[in-house]
Amino acid sequence: MGGYKIAVLPGDGIGPEVVAEAVKVLGVVGKKFGHTFDLRYADFGGAAIDSSGSPFPPETEITCMNADAVLFGAVGGPKWDSLDPAIRPEKGLLALRKAAGAFANLRPAKLFPELADACYLRPDIVANGIDIMVVRELIGDVYFGEPSGIEVRDGERVGFSNMIYREHEIRRVARVAFETAMKRNKKLCSVDKANVLAVSRLWREVVTEVSKEYPEVELSYMYVDNAAMQLVRNPAAFDVIVTGNLFGDILSDEAAAITGSIGMLPSASVGGPDTPGLYEPVHGSAPDIAGQNLANPVATILSLAMLLRYSLGLAAEADAVEAAVADVLAAGYRTGDIFREGMKRVGCSEMGQLIADRV
Ligand code: NAD
Ligand code: IPM
Ligand code: MN
Repeated sequence: MGGYKIAVLPGDGIGPEVVAEAVKVLGVVGKKFGHTFDLRYADFGGAAIDSSGSPFPPETEITCMNADAVLFGAVGGPKWDSLDPAIRPEKGLLALRKAAGAFANLRPAKLFPELADACYLRPDIVANGIDIMVVRELIGDVYFGEPSGIEVRDGERVGFSNMIYREHEIRRVARVAFETAMKRNKKLCSVDKANVLAVSRLWREVVTEVSKEYPEVELSYMYVDNAAMQLVRNPAAFDVIVTGNLFGDILSDEAAAITGSIGMLPSASVGGPDTPGLYEPVHGSAPDIAGQNLANPVATILSLAMLLRYSLGLAAEADAVEAAVADVLAAGYRTGDIFREGMKRVGCSEMGQLIADRV
């Protein structure tokens, strides 16, 4: 009987809807496998701005740091878009990642064979499936680089953001990527823009140095523009991709789309041994479909499976959740984003219930 502390941050838009379904699934996992999950809800993002003026209030930080893992929905929305950038919902997310030291963001893009019909690519291109792990650096790069701002210089406005990496930041995420590749097909592609950017030349140098520790892993390099193209041209060529924060943000949305829908893609963000892992869908708060029971909860439910596997060491439980998702897809149930003629269209809460029933 385990007693696991999980901080739950529903956030904004579809965040609360998809998190509720993951919590439903977690309840079944607890019953079936005899675990106690101690859920600690906390305000985050726009919801926290409304209640306390800050997107990541100190109480929320304490709740997260005292938990074994954090399950998070999404933040942001038009209501908060005109706020001072320092207190926007997205800033709270960046602060949470930083506070947790979550420097490695694992975003698996996998095509469920059951979902081949929802894939945007030609059947012959995905005949061998898609199974890519994007390892995105998460707490550095142009997201956090200083100086950054908008200033008036010589009578006009100048905007600037600094793309900067220190070598230890590159080395530690590279190690996670090589370790990940060792557990998979031992192929790693480092994505950068080393033909133009100095920061990318350092990235490449350090990744090459780390590769000496992993002689079994076949390392390749690709410029980010080419990588964006190859992802749609021949996704089967990729095993693990390691890249910086900004390139990883963009490529992971692209990887999501080629597997069917961004509503399917989970993520895990991990850092030091003493900080909680963060688990969140790759998608955002989807204001266009919020509050209508239309969201696909699978990305969040698969993020829960990653939480069980990586932060709690509950592999059988994680397998059960992933198998339940595959079962429901195989049975033809689809939310709107992955719906095709002849399938059974369901809403967010029905999808969550169907998965929970099959765990
Ligand atoms: P988005 O991911 O929220 O939505 C993009 C498109 O995908 C929309 O058409 C949406 O309806 C659809 N979509 C997303 N998730 C879905 C799901 N689970 N099921 C079905 N369809 C889904 O990206 P956006 O529109 O660029 O951003 C909206 C807001 O979310 C912004 O405020 C942005 O800053 C924020 N955002 C937050 C996160 C996060 O919290 N991790 C991530 C990305 C964007
Ligand atoms: C994501 C999002 C965030 C990011 C935003 C909302 C800060 O796009 O999680 O992918 O850019 O990291
Ligand atoms: Mn993103």
